[in-house]
Amino acid sequence: MADITVPLLDLKAQYGPMRDEIRAVMDEVCDAQWFVMGPKVQAFEQEVAAYTGAKHAIGCASGTDAILLALMAYDIGPGDEVICPSYTFFATGGCVHRLGAKPVYVDIDPVTYNMDVNLVREAAAKCKNLKAIMPVHLFGQCVDMTAYRTLADKLGVPLIEDAAQAIGSRDETGAMAGTRGDVGCFSFFPSKNLGGFGDGGIITTNDDGLAAKLSILRLHGGKPKYYHSIVGINSRLDALQAAILSIKLRHLEAWHQGRAKNAADYSDSFAQAGAATTGAPDAGSLPIITPAAAGSGARHIYNQYVIRVPADIRDGLREHMKDAGIGTEIYYPVPLHLQECFAYLGYSEGDLPVSEAAAKESIALPIYPELTAEQKAHVVETVVSYVRQHAPAAVGS
Ligand SMILES: Cc1ncc(COP(=O)(O)O)c(C=O)c1O
Repeated sequence: MADITVPLLDLKAQYGPMRDEIRAVMDEVCDAQWFVMGPKVQAFEQEVAAYTGAKHAIGCASGTDAILLALMAYDIGPGDEVICPSYTFFATGGCVHRLGAKPVYVDIDPVTYNMDVNLVREAAAKCKNLKAIMPVHLFGQCVDMTAYRTLADKLGVPLIEDAAQAIGSRDETGAMAGTRGDVGCFSFFPSKNLGGFGDGGIITTNDDGLAAKLSILRLHGGKPKYYHSIVGINSRLDALQAAILSIKLRHLEAWHQGRAKNAADYSDSFAQAGAATTGAPDAGSLPIITPAAAGSGARHIYNQYVIRVPADIRDGLREHMKDAGIGTEIYYPVPLHLQECFAYLGYSEGDLPVSEAAAKESIALPIYPELTAEQKAHVVETVVSYVRQHAPAAVGS
């Protein structure tokens, strides 16, 4: 298998079969010369609302802006506290900071990597000015939305879903991400299951008033144009992105299925090789922990397939995989509470031990839908042989 290569993501494999369809719609936009907002954006917003089941979908320039706008819509600012995970992409906490508010970082559940709702409850009790709770559906797996909804209602604060990685994910009731929180924030960064040809984002909500406010906030807060009762930002979705995303949305369910099949194949192969499936490895199992499958009713869309190996071999494994032609990534090497820019918050190492361990042990494998059986076998074989050789102590211990 020496000459098989497996990039972390192969967008060319996705583009090839839909090239003509996409070029045609790009031509349409070029001929119309309507590049910002407009009918293509409106059509895509309606399609996302229909796909997710949310009442409203409001396009914007990125997933980061979706979060920023959602926080702005709730007037979150200096002195306010927002609970969010530390083990996430930077934007989750960065947006809270940018508005002058304080991110309150909470640890994750070791099996799902999602923010632990019981720890959120404890953290909320210590907050003096809590204004929102923002869980992240990490890697494409929903948090327990029933527990989060109940807690947010009890605390009387909005529940903002960072659903950047989770378009099409379903929670334990079967509801789509972005429909049971007060607002859902999605990203169309190219590596997402639904990725554009550049940046893009969308915000979902069932609240008419909030939708109206969000659609003004993304246009500098002007309504009518040039008349401003509130201050917003420039965060518009481009017509080209919307047109391309509309085409891609038609293929999204098939891509989700492809990713789920790849995840199941990986997990089966690792289990056959003696790996632990979820949680801590049992004595005798190979120390490779595969992702927890979604519970009944739920759907994991596997934006990422992240395994865990002992911290002392993780970086070596990554190098070894690179040498074997396999792309990997570390999501995320430094949890937000330990980032230099957040030192002012006063966290130190050991404060969020589960996030810190995940940052040292996790490694994301290629999971894109077009992976071939040969590529998957090469990935599994490369991981297993390295772990067997370098972490033998755990084998049969
Ligand atoms: C969890 C999470 N939140 C927010 C974002 C921000 O989205 P974008 O890159 O579109 O700004 C991302 C995207 O990478 C993400 O993964």
